[in-house]
Amino acid sequence: MLDGDMVVGTNPRMRAIARYVRQIAPGLGTVLLTGESGTGKEVIARAIHHASTRRARPFVAVSCALFSDTLIESELFGYERGAFTGAVASRAGRFERAEGGTLFLDDIDDVPLGMQVKLLRALQNREIERLGATRAVPVDVRVLAGTKRDLRQLVAEGRFREDLFYRLNVLPIDLPPLRDRRSDIPEYIAHFLARFCARRGIAVPTISDAVMQALVRYDWPGNVRELENLCERIAEGSTCGRVGLGCLGASVLFESMEAAVGPEAIDRDATGAPAAEGSTLEDVLRGVETRLIGEALARSGGNRSEAARRLGVRRSTLGDRIARCGLDRTGSSVPSP
Ligand SMILES: Nc1ncnc2c1ncn2[C@@H]1O[C@H](COP(=O)(O)OP(=O)(O)OP(=O)(O)O)[C@@H](O)[C@H]1O
Ligand SMILES: [Mg+2]
Repeated sequence: MLDGDMVVGTNPRMRAIARYVRQIAPGLGTVLLTGESGTGKEVIARAIHHASTRRARPFVAVSCALFSDTLIESELFGYERGAFTGAVASRAGRFERAEGGTLFLDDIDDVPLGMQVKLLRALQNREIERLGATRAVPVDVRVLAGTKRDLRQLVAEGRFREDLFYRLNVLPIDLPPLRDRRSDIPEYIAHFLARFCARRGIAVPTISDAVMQALVRYDWPGNVRELENLCERIAEGSTCGRVGLGCLGASVLFESMEAAVGPEAIDRDATGAPAAEGSTLEDVLRGVETRLIGEALARSGGNRSEAARRLGVRRSTLGDRIARCGLDRTGSSVPSP
């Protein structure tokens, strides 16, 4: 484990990234972290800092997207008193505040072209000049940069300086989207549920196989952040290990089931929302499970092996579920005696 609160999982790319982080952490080379939103760029940036000898010094993260073209320079480099109207006292910028530590410049693609030259100079010379200052001061800072964009593309379009790109791309780390490391999803869920439930002082609720499968199949456009938020909703809505559907982020759950089995398999009410909102999760899932198994059996003409394959479960598991759901061979409901 690189950092107490980070999941690496078993995905080969993530394991390689974890090894690379340990390998490059001691140095000073600039790291360029790329990956979709929510894939963990900042998590990796922190892990690099914590695995380095700089760990006792500050880790400063700043999103370059948050500042206007005119503000970004004073934000990064600071200013001297009187540098501009309103500069009543001098102020250190992010570089100076990260002295001895690590500076994570997120959304680096948002740095305006004019500022890119100054940033390049700061990185090359390891010194910065406050706005309104007469001379530069040396800074001892390891710089990490993050972006969701393809910087090479921006360079080709003339929107990002090529020299700065090469200066940043010394040690590249590209984080894969969560949908490309699905087998790690259960480990993330266990990790986040444990954390959120510990915070609430409650036991971790069980996630049924059907729900877990649906979550593994879902595409997670918001990546790990989206999964983390879903786990928080589950933990917040959970009492005594039973999870209310309203707290489960029904849309995520049902979209994922839809992706796995087709939209017609899910019961909906007149508004198109998944039916039975308000019931407990177990009740709703039992209903969904019955429908899914029924559909699969019907589509495979009652062939259990075929139906099991469609559902991605073992034949024996399917047998147990069929018995539990009270279905006959063809998938029709058997009325309870
Ligand atoms: N490997 C991981 N282990 C534990 N938590 C993770 C991991 N990766 C991401 N997370 C969690 O997911 C959320 C998003 O991660 P992070 O902020 O690092 O993403 P990002 O790539 O910087 O996203 P953005 O581009 O939107 O800023 C965070 O709350 C983080 O704690
Ligand atoms: Mg980020």
